[in-house]
Amino acid sequence: MLITFEGIDGSGKSTQISLLKDKLTSVGKTVRVFREPGGTQISEEIRELLLNTEFHIDSVTELLLFSSARSQLMSEEVLPALEKGEVVILDRFYDSTTAYQGYGRKSLPLNQIQQINSIASHGRTPDFTFYLRLSLDESNHRRAHLSKDRMERAGDEFFANVIKGFDDLAEQEERFIVIEASQSIEVIHESIVKRLSSKLL
Ligand code: ADP
Ligand code: TYD
Repeated sequence: MLITFEGIDGSGKSTQISLLKDKLTSVGKTVRVFREPGGTQISEEIRELLLNTEFHIDSVTELLLFSSARSQLMSEEVLPALEKGEVVILDRFYDSTTAYQGYGRKSLPLNQIQQINSIASHGRTPDFTFYLRLSLDESNHRRAHLSKDRMERAGDEFFANVIKGFDDLAEQEERFIVIEASQSIEVIHESIVKRLSSKLL
């Protein structure tokens, strides 16, 4: 089973993934967690390029680099793990590309981005996507003390468009489960577990 977590920076994805991993492991599942971009040596190198504040990266190049990192992760780790029947949890997947490179950067028309997403994911779609929905103000507040990577320096208008992207996807895609990320960590965890209980617990 492939479970993905989406949402803007600071929405609580890593926190919830860690809790979910512990829960599923405690009931005997083998769980693999990867972050995007990253998760393989090549993908982590691409991540360094993408988040490095020294570079100015052309928006189509950026789109293709995120997609390249994803393709490598799929072939090296995700697809083999799914083949073995393991649960794979991804901290971001191609919906982030639609939201950030499509709605945020507007690097290419959305239908072309969808085609690239399909190629980069080797045709695999998530079984469940948890979208942790957070306002821009709250995201900025949670991350106020952190230094900003290249993507996070994009500014408020960019992030407002990214949120619109995730909101549109949530309306279009049945696999999306929207969770208000301003709730407490425990309440969010419980609703995630509840949504998965009939399938995995
Ligand atoms: P992401 O992986 O989406 O960037 P994190 O899980 O790293 O988000 O969380 C960002 C920050 O917000 C961390 O300091 C974390 O402790 C805090 N946080 C996570 N979930 C919540 C929550 N439900 N309420 C308040 N703060 C939270
Ligand atoms: P990361 O620190 O992993 O995200 P978070 O702050 O949510 O923990 O940084 C990854 C950044 O890359 C984040 O700003 C979102 C962005 N991104 C894209 O723009 N497109 C993509 O396809 C992916 C996977 C991430």
